[in-house]
Amino acid sequence: MGVIAEKADLTTEYLRNRGVGTVDIAMVLGTGLSGIETMLKDKLIIDYSDIPLFPISTVEGHSGKLIYGRLGNKNLLLLSGRFHYYEGYGMEEVTYYIHVMATLGAKNLVMTNAAGGLNPRYHAGDLVLVRDHINLFPANPLRGTYDAELGPRFPDMLHAYPVTLRNSMKNTAAAMGIKLHEGVYLGWQGPSLETPAEYKMARMLGADLVGMSTVPEVIVAKYRNLDVLVLSIVSNICFPPSALKETTIEEVVKVMEASTEKVMRLLTAWIDSQE
Ligand code: HPA
Repeated sequence: MGVIAEKADLTTEYLRNRGVGTVDIAMVLGTGLSGIETMLKDKLIIDYSDIPLFPISTVEGHSGKLIYGRLGNKNLLLLSGRFHYYEGYGMEEVTYYIHVMATLGAKNLVMTNAAGGLNPRYHAGDLVLVRDHINLFPANPLRGTYDAELGPRFPDMLHAYPVTLRNSMKNTAAAMGIKLHEGVYLGWQGPSLETPAEYKMARMLGADLVGMSTVPEVIVAKYRNLDVLVLSIVSNICFPPSALKETTIEEVVKVMEASTEKVMRLLTAWIDSQE
């Protein structure tokens, strides 16, 4: 057994002992979206700092808690706060929770994030389903960590964002009258935001969204055969250059918080619609 598998087993054993049972849907909440856990029943809340081998989230707007509970007839595992490469963590730490979720037996993983909007049709607060990504992080999370028991050496990325999950989310959104775009997310390390020329380059490369997270996790999720669904909330408008304004973390968090209710309604209804 490889080192990562051994570690994930240890973390999983701890979580099982604390009362985490079967996981129907796992969910990761990005910047500014904490509070979503209020919809869960019979909640178990565990601080990241109590979980063996878990990194500790440091970024503003992240509370760093694992929450396990019931929503309708589903068992949900929520991670409130993720680990970013820009915080100084290595790729193995950034993606560690994916291994834990896979070891816990999760099959579906829903991720939310804040992202800059490059598609001129987007407005701040809009929701975008990610249908593909462009990986411009300086390292790949699977570099050197190959374990044949966990997944393939060269994971195919054609269906990294499975169309069945996206379609079911689109159906839910349409039934609720919630506008939901679909787009390509370009991920790179940050933490500085992009210059006008960089936003323009990202748009020219074919991206609709730009952000500093998610891509490493999606790669590891594909390796571990998890189906992911990524929901980005447009926190600031980045294109065309004439639309650019200075962006602060406070503004990003404000837009995210203003969208929380809509995101919660959509996710709750979608979970409810899943078999
Ligand atoms: N750039 C990169 N990441 C982001 C942005 C942005 O403009 N907004 C939210 N996350």
